Amino acid sequence: MATLRLGDLAPDFEQDSTQGRLRFHAWAGDAWVVLFSHPADFTPVCTTELGRTAALAAEFARRNVKPIAISVDPLASHLQWVRDIEAVQGVPVGFPILADADRTVATLYDMVHPEALANATVRSVFIIDPAKRIRATFTYPASTGRNFDEVLRVIDALQLTDAHPVATPADWRPGQDVVIVPSLRDPVEIARRFPAGFRALTPYLRLTPPPAA
Ligand code: BEZ
Repeated sequence: MATLRLGDLAPDFEQDSTQGRLRFHAWAGDAWVVLFSHPADFTPVCTTELGRTAALAAEFARRNVKPIAISVDPLASHLQWVRDIEAVQGVPVGFPILADADRTVATLYDMVHPEALANATVRSVFIIDPAKRIRATFTYPASTGRNFDEVLRVIDALQLTDAHPVATPADWRPGQDVVIVPSLRDPVEIARRFPAGFRALTPYLRLTPPPAA
């Protein structure tokens, strides 16, 4: 199993899920994907994470993103647990949870870190673009629930920086100023792309209002 790095093709797989057996690339279609592993069903932190993802369904859809969760628990367990999540959060779990009891996906994506957690996936996140390339990864320990606002923020940054020659500064939030990439030096091109102008704090740190999507 090779380490997966940014820019790598996200491995395809076929696996059972709460929405039926699926082939990953075909299921993703032309959407972005957030593939995220959790350690185990019927655990408190995981229950809040999957509920939060379900509650954010409209935010994911607005960005053309499909969430998909995974653990190495079997399908029957997932199906029972989904009822708890829906009762706790009061929203339907509208995304699939992969039942990876045979570890097909956990192995491909290196989601089991035995020195951290024996026999279960840690909290991995893979953000995958419509070309099926891995664009961001995070890994959290079992004891720390993820911040799904951060997942959305990274997707916003990726989608903006794919569309324009900009990067996002520390703690950037949508709507805030962005950085013009240092490689863009031509003043005519800068004026064309950024008609609102820019503030140069140093020759290489040039802030401009976010371009329209
Ligand atoms: C949890 O989701 O609550 C959890 C899972 C594994 C270890 C610790 C906490």
